[in-house]
Amino acid sequence: MEDPVGEDAGAKGHGNMTDLPPAAESDEATRIAGLRSSFGRGLLGTPLTGLRLSWAVRSENADARQLEYQLAVSSGNGEWDVQPAIAGEVSTGIRDARGFSAREVRRYAVRVRTQVGWTAWSTPLTVEAGVPGDELDARVIGIPSEVAGPVPLLRREFRLETAPRSARLRLSALGLVDAWINGVRVSDALLTPGWTSYQKRVLVDTLDVTDLLRAGDNVLVAAVGDGWYRGPFGFARRTAIYGDRIGVLAQLELTSPDGATEIIASDESWRGGFGAVRSAGIYDGTIIDQSLDAVGVHEPGFDDTGWTQASIIETDLARFEPRASEPVRVIAEREMSIERRNDRLLLDSGQNVSGWVRLVVRGAAGDVVTIRHAEVLEPSGELHTAALRKAKATDVYTLASDGEHVLEPVFTFHGFRYADVVGDAEVVSATAIAISSDLEPRSTFRSSDAALDQFHSNVLWSQRDNFVSVPTDCPQRDERLGWTGDAQAFAATANTLLDTEAFWMSWLRDLEIDQTDEGGVPSVVPDIIRRQDMLMGGTPTDNMGRAGWADAATIVPLAVYESYGSTEVLERQLDSMRRWVGHLRRRAGHGIVLPTEPFQYGDWLDPDAPAARPWEAKVSSDYVANAFYVHSARLVARAERLVGDAQAASQYDALADSVAAATWERWGEEAVSTQTGAALALEFRIAPEERRAGLADALAANVARSDGRISTGFLGTPLVLFALSNNGHVAEAYRMVLRHEAPSWLYQVDRGATTVWERWDAILPDGSIHGGDMDAGNSGGESGGMLSFNHYAYGAMIDWVYRTVAGLAPDAESPGYRTVHVAPRPARALDRAAATIATGLGELSIDWRLDGDALEATLTVPFGARALLDLPLTESSTVTVNGDPAPAELHHGTHRITVTAPAVA
Ligand code: BGC
Repeated sequence: MEDPVGEDAGAKGHGNMTDLPPAAESDEATRIAGLRSSFGRGLLGTPLTGLRLSWAVRSENADARQLEYQLAVSSGNGEWDVQPAIAGEVSTGIRDARGFSAREVRRYAVRVRTQVGWTAWSTPLTVEAGVPGDELDARVIGIPSEVAGPVPLLRREFRLETAPRSARLRLSALGLVDAWINGVRVSDALLTPGWTSYQKRVLVDTLDVTDLLRAGDNVLVAAVGDGWYRGPFGFARRTAIYGDRIGVLAQLELTSPDGATEIIASDESWRGGFGAVRSAGIYDGTIIDQSLDAVGVHEPGFDDTGWTQASIIETDLARFEPRASEPVRVIAEREMSIERRNDRLLLDSGQNVSGWVRLVVRGAAGDVVTIRHAEVLEPSGELHTAALRKAKATDVYTLASDGEHVLEPVFTFHGFRYADVVGDAEVVSATAIAISSDLEPRSTFRSSDAALDQFHSNVLWSQRDNFVSVPTDCPQRDERLGWTGDAQAFAATANTLLDTEAFWMSWLRDLEIDQTDEGGVPSVVPDIIRRQDMLMGGTPTDNMGRAGWADAATIVPLAVYESYGSTEVLERQLDSMRRWVGHLRRRAGHGIVLPTEPFQYGDWLDPDAPAARPWEAKVSSDYVANAFYVHSARLVARAERLVGDAQAASQYDALADSVAAATWERWGEEAVSTQTGAALALEFRIAPEERRAGLADALAANVARSDGRISTGFLGTPLVLFALSNNGHVAEAYRMVLRHEAPSWLYQVDRGATTVWERWDAILPDGSIHGGDMDAGNSGGESGGMLSFNHYAYGAMIDWVYRTVAGLAPDAESPGYRTVHVAPRPARALDRAAATIATGLGELSIDWRLDGDALEATLTVPFGARALLDLPLTESSTVTVNGDPAPAELHHGTHRITVTAPAVA
């Protein structure tokens, strides 16, 4: 029974940490394995609202269920407030309805009651709230500086009587900022504050800098780069997109040992000047001349004659807000091989990454070292730099002294596997530094097919390389934009590979911010593309509301909900979702279906589209647009039903049904004749019920006829395998997946790809590199190349691999893996697969193999989840679990499943 809460734990249920009430009846076989917050791991200074808690439970008791849970909250004074127990099994997405005040620290502990009794309390989780921009004393400050010119340094010296008991630095910028206290970098975060829709939202990092401060003189220095804010960006290379002045926002908050507080904030008392960094741009790279280093800048008493007084950059501080998702950090370091090629050294990291090269060189004062980057080599062995378009992706260093130097660029990143170095200095070592938004890995996959495993690795790397603050199309050329089409195509896969919930929720806020008053959703978020930037076939193109791109507004929130299980993403996005479908409805007017638009991307990069006109897919873009209209309307209906208005839900469903019927009537033939057409008709339920089986047969026949040749672009690719396997054609799905001839997924693997290509044939069967030409392409018409080796869109098939090969799928109605469909589909050509997914409830895993005439699977289900078995059966199959007849559903624990005479594709 329940504890006499608080009776022995201080007045009214309060007590200090050790006083959390013990359980009268306790379940010692069950414990809380992890209590976590919905904000990024280890973040300090989080938003004041929106906190959700989740915990995983481990239990040796197979029958244990969470009957209720109880939270204890401690608000700084060490006393616990034990809250009333709440009945139910839910253990993810638990909100603390009370918002935080600025800087408030709260600790949480949780325990759950099973049939046996209460567990022990979890290890406490500490949450420390940040400070909203309009409560900051700091001002954004800068000194005059040129776009792509020397990087300003801003500096302030201050004296402390004693070393502080604690110190927090709130740090942000209009631009990008690095900061040091007494010469030590304040954080391992990179590209701070990251990219958001700056006109409305700039993030603030909070850092614990207690250990960097000392009694006596201290020095705080910040460097401010152009970054996304002011540097040349977008394929039109416009500058000053968000503003023409860059500056830093820094607020150091000190608490002395006696409890006195002091704030040292960026203001006009700071002084600024320049140092060794002569130029730093995201696309172009960094130029560093060590001889111009501001020597002694980190020391007290630095001679700043020649420096200027900082001035305040007037800006609305309300747009500064605490960060909620992990920042960009170094996620891997790879030693590069070094080979001499004529006048240069060729470096190879063996893996396409986003980041830069750390060079250790030995040289003489005045030596210049130039390093260029590329994803692939020309057949001649030279770097292939055409694909970079106008991005220089070059770092240049001038040495100031004889001897060994460690060289690294700042405020930039390159997409590369190879690099070449020219210069007199001797290269001692070269390390590829890979960066990414530091999201926790969530899954693993391996199978009996080494090429498929490599493709999985390539997709994961493409996600890493492109999740750099926002989800981008590619990390190497003069683009690196948050293309919404690529994001929606990849969202479900992204959710499985890395813990992306907070990342998406941040980006979706920008999507909503950048939505037009009429509900139109841009093709890139943050939206920096203006109409005139984009030319397709020579004509300016409207970037708003393009089918399959703008639908990220509905598709991404539902994908996040399904994978992570909290309705919060839907609550936050519902208005944006409604406005997008409202926009489509207005565009359709009285005609039910959408009229033909001057331009749609359509099934972009269909392998049969003319190479230079990737929007000219086989399938009609009008049909595609209406299919996505139907899908978005249905997704809004689901969101309405879950968190909005049930009546509105029925209206959206009715809208979807009528558009689907009209679409089918008008374009049904499209559906039968192309892979993407059929996939849309089946997966988005455009085809009437009675036509589905025939349509699926036609799709399967199409695939069989072409020997598994994929003929879909960005929009059809995420759907086509599901359209097959959900309709009884697993064998044909495998035929596509395991095909090695171009175009196919594994063709790239055979060609040495380590990330996913943008074009199916980026390297042609004869080994030559695709020209990448675009008709007066969207690069503004000049260089026109469109050829990236690191685009995740086609990697969207990995979602199918988890759900259908490994056989672990979250249930749409009982999301976040609370209900898991265990549905592995073995094939003769793939007789073993294993996967793990770190769900919010704990680890879910499967390891299956075909063994003689049986399928043997080991399935581990986390506490709080139920697994529904959907096994590959034939008429003569029997199913046992741990030797007994299979129950209807399985709960936590490890289960050995045997299926005799399984269906094998
Ligand atoms: C990007 C794509 C994007 C497309 C839309 C390309 O330049 O790299 O991934 O979705 O444009 O036109």
